[in-house]
Amino acid sequence: MEQISRRGFITALAGLGVLPSFADAIGNMDGRVILQAMPGRQQLDPELPGPTALWTFNGGVPGPLLRVMQGERLELTFRNGIDQGSAVHWHGIRIDNAMDGVVGMTQPSVLPGESFDYSFVLPDAGTYWYHAHQHSSEQVGRGLYGILVVDEQVPPLVDNDIVLALDDWRLDQEGQIHESFGNLHDISHGGRTGNWLTVNGEGSKTIAVGNGERLRLRLINTANSLIMPLHLPDQPCWLMALDGMPLDQPVPAQTGITLGPGQRADLIMDCADMANPLALGFVERDELISLVSFVHDPSRDRQPHDDSPSPLPPNPVVRCDSSSDNSTPLIMQGGAMGDLQAAQYQGEMMAIRELVRHGKAWALNGVVDRTEKPLLTARRGSCQEIVIENRTAWPHAMHLHGHHFEVPASGWPGPALRDTVMLDPGDTLALRFRADNPGRWLLHCHMLEHQVGGMVTWIEVN
Ligand code: C2O
Ligand code: CU
Repeated sequence: MEQISRRGFITALAGLGVLPSFADAIGNMDGRVILQAMPGRQQLDPELPGPTALWTFNGGVPGPLLRVMQGERLELTFRNGIDQGSAVHWHGIRIDNAMDGVVGMTQPSVLPGESFDYSFVLPDAGTYWYHAHQHSSEQVGRGLYGILVVDEQVPPLVDNDIVLALDDWRLDQEGQIHESFGNLHDISHGGRTGNWLTVNGEGSKTIAVGNGERLRLRLINTANSLIMPLHLPDQPCWLMALDGMPLDQPVPAQTGITLGPGQRADLIMDCADMANPLALGFVERDELISLVSFVHDPSRDRQPHDDSPSPLPPNPVVRCDSSSDNSTPLIMQGGAMGDLQAAQYQGEMMAIRELVRHGKAWALNGVVDRTEKPLLTARRGSCQEIVIENRTAWPHAMHLHGHHFEVPASGWPGPALRDTVMLDPGDTLALRFRADNPGRWLLHCHMLEHQVGGMVTWIEVN
């Protein structure tokens, strides 16, 4: 379902509060949404020899498109129908800690055949997603993810609102999921990158648009580890929000945008001239792999919008003032071509060679994996700064649960709020945030194989 009209949504929202799309959302008698992890098969690309066996939510990838009004509560039962323990994480939601889906930290594993009830309020409007958060590299890599859109009480006026979940898959000759999970080369290099790209679980999409139409595009990078440099059609286009959070001012975005794993971007694009089809796609070595083509449908032609879009209404995130109560350094080390000699793992100092034998390759502040003690303990409401230094030879996509942080402005007015930020080799970035959400929150690389390889820590707010 690639084209979704605003009106369609509003009618559907009046009913359940959540609209079935992608895979079907299943509601039970008392209005709870059922999200069931289960095996499924899907033709990921017409050029593949046949459907691919996947792990899905409700039978398809992406899982059901969950759509909730800002400020409302989502009530959902997760049922685990795969043969591994699992749990669901709601990426980017400033959520009640008990609902965060982190096995062993915020909840026990939901074992095969068991279920878990999630119930939480959505404080912020924007584009979010959900995914399995146990053995994430394998479970997300096999398809256990879906999109969560939180609608503004007064949404911007657009003619079409389009969700585009971009993913890559590592498939074998038969078009089946390559079984190379846990591969040490992936862990110590750039992660598990794939050989097939999909958009909303298909090889490509064609979307009919009229001259003058204004589109809202919600781009989500759901790949395990792939950084996506994206080419946008050459039309008037504005970056409206990053990781769900509105920018203070829309920023012209003609040249394209790069999304790291887990990141999202909301764009508004005016289709001023549909004489030729427009392509949105992935840029590889100066070549464009088209994922979405916008083609002219004269029946949709309309009077062009004559104003540029106003900023989206801000979300109720309380920012830091200029000073921080506390600054914590976080040094990333390890990986191929890195300088990590030894690090602490399960309480023991280990040489890198030995770490690798345990499938570990990365350290944060000299420690591999989540430690017993948090990286920092923040007083609730305090302003925290985490200064991350990437001393590795690889880019990383650091993700903080439960909060959005400011990163220094890079070309747009005012610092953007993000939940996932890219650091290139050699980069140092200060993340600043108001620690106002009590609980225990993960901070990890969203290149899921780097997470497996040790690049994960946590903070505590109380
Ligand atoms: Cu989207 Cu801890 O993950
Ligand atoms: Cu990483």
